[in-house]
Amino acid sequence: MSEKTKILEKPSRERDALTVEEKEIVARTLSHRLNAYTKGQTLVVNQAQSLGASDSAHDVFFIQPELRDRANKRLIFGCKRFRRLESAEHELGSMRIAQERGFTTLQPVGNGVFPIEPLGHVLVTKHMPRLVTMNHLGWSDFFVGKEEYRRRIATPLQQIGAFTAQMHSAGIIHGDFQLKNIGQGQSGDPVLFDMEDAIFRDEDSLDEIDFISYVGEEISVLVSSLVDRGFLWHSTDHVFREELTGNLMDPYLANTSITDPILLDFMQRSIDNALLDRQHLHTAFAGTNGLPS
Ligand SMILES: Nc1ncnc2c1ncn2[C@@H]1O[C@H](COP(=O)(O)OP(=O)(O)OP(=O)(O)O)[C@@H](O)[C@H]1O
Ligand SMILES: [Mg+2]
Repeated sequence: MSEKTKILEKPSRERDALTVEEKEIVARTLSHRLNAYTKGQTLVVNQAQSLGASDSAHDVFFIQPELRDRANKRLIFGCKRFRRLESAEHELGSMRIAQERGFTTLQPVGNGVFPIEPLGHVLVTKHMPRLVTMNHLGWSDFFVGKEEYRRRIATPLQQIGAFTAQMHSAGIIHGDFQLKNIGQGQSGDPVLFDMEDAIFRDEDSLDEIDFISYVGEEISVLVSSLVDRGFLWHSTDHVFREELTGNLMDPYLANTSITDPILLDFMQRSIDNALLDRQHLHTAFAGTNGLPS
């Protein structure tokens, strides 16, 4: 990889939760900053777990007007705190570029990023009702012979493969493309979010080789998250390889504009690595009746 690629390598993440009091500070501060939306209403932290940020390492939380009425019923904001302004701005900017390129993303509110002293910088997005992530499909529940496998597993996997190819063909590397970071909106369309580490082929002036290396890495992160979720846990390595090839790699290849044959090598390598990971997991879970979760 070139110097440029090394510079773009992503920093490691850490869990970064706010306390209840800190979330309240965010809500109070944003009550003023989001006046145009709230019409003077005080914002408070939404206490319901059902809004769905259980996958969040940043402890995404939601705020809403204290007094709910018909007019503001849908006014709920997602808040994601970053310590570094650059990270927050990068996520915001990446969502905007992805949107310009025709992808559905979470919708930033106002300027998108708000400084909240001394906590850092909060990215505010409009709450997207019924957003689900691909993490929550029953990846380990259905095996190939089961009737529901096609509908519940193979079809979503094919959609993920096609979507990943469309994203890469638009020059977008998501940067953390695990199942938990692939969204699906109410209409079933894919939704992009968590783009703090996104890289753009043109914006970041990547040459062909670097870009394809990132593509290969992204595919491998995706496949590895499937292993972690127990995809075809009870099936043989042969079936695992066949299904991954037929339902993820083939739809990817049918939808990509990338023609470099090295892509096929990267795909094979990601499957080979997945098989090794799977063997390790099987050994680790042997005799426990347990499954990756
Ligand atoms: N505006 C929103 N509307 C609905 N759900 C949201 C919204 N913002 C965030 N979420 C939920 O919060 C979760 C976490 O968001 P995101 O992935 O951006 O945070 P994260 O903490 O960076 O996650 P990771 O653990 O991958 O680092 C998402 O899976 C999504 O379900
Ligand atoms: Mg995430």
